[in-house]
Amino acid sequence: MTQTAFKSYALLGSGKVARHVQQYLRFLNLPFRTWTRSEGSVSLQTTVQSASHVLFAVSDGAIANLAQDWLSSGKTLVHFSGALNIPGLHAAHPLMTFGSKLEERAWYEKIPFVLDTGDTLADLLPGLPNPFCTLPPEQRALYHALCTLAGNFSSLLWRQIGDRFEQNLGMPRALLTPFLQQCAVNSAAPTSQLTGPVVRGDWGTVKKHLSTLNSDPSLHAVYQSYLQSARSAGFAIPEDIK
Ligand SMILES: NC(=O)c1ccc[n+]([C@@H]2O[C@H](COP(=O)([O-])OP(=O)(O)OC[C@H]3O[C@@H](n4cnc5c(N)ncnc54)[C@H](OP(=O)(O)O)[C@@H]3O)[C@@H](O)[C@H]2O)c1
Repeated sequence: MTQTAFKSYALLGSGKVARHVQQYLRFLNLPFRTWTRSEGSVSLQTTVQSASHVLFAVSDGAIANLAQDWLSSGKTLVHFSGALNIPGLHAAHPLMTFGSKLEERAWYEKIPFVLDTGDTLADLLPGLPNPFCTLPPEQRALYHALCTLAGNFSSLLWRQIGDRFEQNLGMPRALLTPFLQQCAVNSAAPTSQLTGPVVRGDWGTVKKHLSTLNSDPSLHAVYQSYLQSARSAGFAIPEDIK
């Protein structure tokens, strides 16, 4: 795809990613105009026409339709979805989770972007100093499935465990914070060492865990997946443990 000389950004959307991108563009003093579909917004045409780069920070299902009118415009069209390949648009997936709280400039600068093979960040998001890497588009589904397991699944599990701390044990979920933070740090290290009863071969404890989780089918199923993962990772777990 062709490179477009940078003039300014059009930033479409007002959701989580749009708010964070807006904050970051401000920190970087980069020129941009915004558009949302809400009443009172300037027209889409006005926002996009003067921009060289159009950023579709909208829901995945809305991107392709919204981009239709600009496919032949010569503008660089960029979406932030991790999963989508849309003809005529470039993907720039920020490998980060965005909540409601806006962050400091240094936080944004560390976010890596994952682009399609052949693209560069300087072409897609000029002025952003972030690290990036590229991926063949056909690998995007696997990449995004892994991100979902790493982030969304872990978050859901950790949230459920916080709930059980409060509801079943009467302990504040905040007690978990240093432990979970250390687990994240350890897990990201290339030489991370697993700990726990499976690693120690303490099958009596594993059986007790399974027994007490019998009353909680959701967490029992997760524990069984954990044992299955440990088997796949090479731990010799006795067959009668399931
Ligand atoms: N959130 C994350 O952590 C994260 C991380 C990486 C990548 N992404 C990607 O970033 C993109 C935006 O995600 P998000 O989390 O910011 O979503 P979001 O918070 O749900 O916001 C979605 C935005 O899209 C707008 N929208 C939805 N349908 C539209 C339509 N038909 N026409 C115009 N605007 C429409 C919504 O407008 P209204 O407010 O009017 O409903 C809202 O401003 C997605 O591609 C997502 O995959 C998200």
